[in-house]
Amino acid sequence: MERIGDYSAVVVGSGIAGLTYALGAAKSGDVLVLTKKSRAESNTNWAQGGIAAVVDPSDTVAEHVEDTLVAGAGLCRRRAVDLIVSKGPGAVAALMERGARFSAAESGDLSLGQEGGHRKRRIVHAQDRTGWEIEGALLEAVAASPGIEVWEHGFVLDLWIGPGPGGERRCHGVTFLDTHTGRVGLVRAGRTMLATGGCGKVYRYTTNPDIATADGVAMAARAGCPVVNMEMVQFHPTCLYHPEARSFLISEAVRGEGGVLVTVDGAPIMEGRHPMASLAPRDIVAREIDRVMKARGDSHVLLDVSGIGPALFNERFPAISERLKAFGFTPGVDPIPVVPAAHYLCGGVHVDLEGRTALPGLFASGEVAHTGVHGANRLASNSLLEAYVIADRAAALPPEPDTGPAPAPPRGPGDHPPGPDRGVILEHEWDAVRRLMWDFVGLVRSTERLRRAQNRLTLMRTWSEELYRASRPDTDLAELRNIALVGHLIAASALARRESRGLHQMPEYPDTQDPPAETWCTFDGRDAAVSLVPLAQEDR
Ligand code: SIN
Repeated sequence: MERIGDYSAVVVGSGIAGLTYALGAAKSGDVLVLTKKSRAESNTNWAQGGIAAVVDPSDTVAEHVEDTLVAGAGLCRRRAVDLIVSKGPGAVAALMERGARFSAAESGDLSLGQEGGHRKRRIVHAQDRTGWEIEGALLEAVAASPGIEVWEHGFVLDLWIGPGPGGERRCHGVTFLDTHTGRVGLVRAGRTMLATGGCGKVYRYTTNPDIATADGVAMAARAGCPVVNMEMVQFHPTCLYHPEARSFLISEAVRGEGGVLVTVDGAPIMEGRHPMASLAPRDIVAREIDRVMKARGDSHVLLDVSGIGPALFNERFPAISERLKAFGFTPGVDPIPVVPAAHYLCGGVHVDLEGRTALPGLFASGEVAHTGVHGANRLASNSLLEAYVIADRAAALPPEPDTGPAPAPPRGPGDHPPGPDRGVILEHEWDAVRRLMWDFVGLVRSTERLRRAQNRLTLMRTWSEELYRASRPDTDLAELRNIALVGHLIAASALARRESRGLHQMPEYPDTQDPPAETWCTFDGRDAAVSLVPLAQEDR
């Protein structure tokens, strides 16, 4: 395996967390950003909603904290919530300074949207293309920073772990596959930042882009880092239901402007179910839609947008309008067919409030990481905020040069050329993992289905790892290896939580346990071990 370069920091992923970290870390050393597709292909780029922040004088940090804790169903870490919410106004100002242009009201003040679980309008947005706006501004800032290199088509396969100067296990960098040349290389770095986004592709139906294959969680777990609350997978209530619309989200902001969820024959779904009706926290709305669809045998429900009207809809939601028109709908007039779909991982690689994982030299930020701010259900639009705040704080830490003798490189993939059947086998296995996760580890769970899922995922994980070790890697194989492992970690964590809380619902365990506890999961290369760890008193 060829050593390609040495850097002060290597960043895996080019969304808001990765680019924010790169911009900060470049002040104290040279930085390499590796991204597995093109630089703008990130989960961030797809974010429609916005950044939740207390910028209106009638709003308070205490109310934003309270809404976050209520949505999180008693499992948020209070210290993470207090810190991240209090940094909201500063994060918005810093992004504007970097060049992000957010929508303004006629008064010139920021225009604030509303989403599920928020009692106030506090979503700073750029129409319905907030992520795209932020991504563009950060990429421009990165392009203007001579200390940052960005390598596209660099798919990071694993972390480079070995002894540090005192003999302790440390992260020394990464191995990566150049997906254009097929070459596997090694990069050494004092600090490695995982900013790989989420895991939506572990599930058959998702709002996430194709890149969301849980790569960061998988490589951190393989390196022995604990992953926490992996069973807390958020399903977004409103993914467009259309045979040709793969993964298209209808932002919760549409409900914030007056969209109402109804059955296919027009009966309101959330009336009388929650005081906030269609704007109730996301877990509650998604579950109710699922219940109604199953009870009625319907394939979808409808989002009635007639109360918004075409003028406001087109102006406020240009990207959604464009997509709806392409499918023959009149935006702001026709009801939109929607279904719940996997959207966001609220657990992840455990980090402290400066992004440090359990392994020296390894950091994580954004959806891949678990700070505890989301608890058992993320409050809408808190995620870009969390990603920015933690990445910025991590980047402000002093550099940790990795100057000793280089440890042995990690074991790489195999080099057998792919046989003629590989394509069809990989496609089948991809489909099998995602179908199994959707059917057996979805919105409502049972011990029977979780056990079956876990048994089958153990085999799928083992098989994909063996194939990876034997044969020349490509993106499909490396991603399959990751989704199979992370599916296994999600199922194992779900089996350990014998209660119903937030995003984890098991009718056979309907009650919520006290004290609230996190699932801590470690993977030893063969099995996942999960323990329930009560939340610290200061975090409740
Ligand atoms: C949305 O626009 O509904 C998504 C926002 C989020 O997931 O926070």
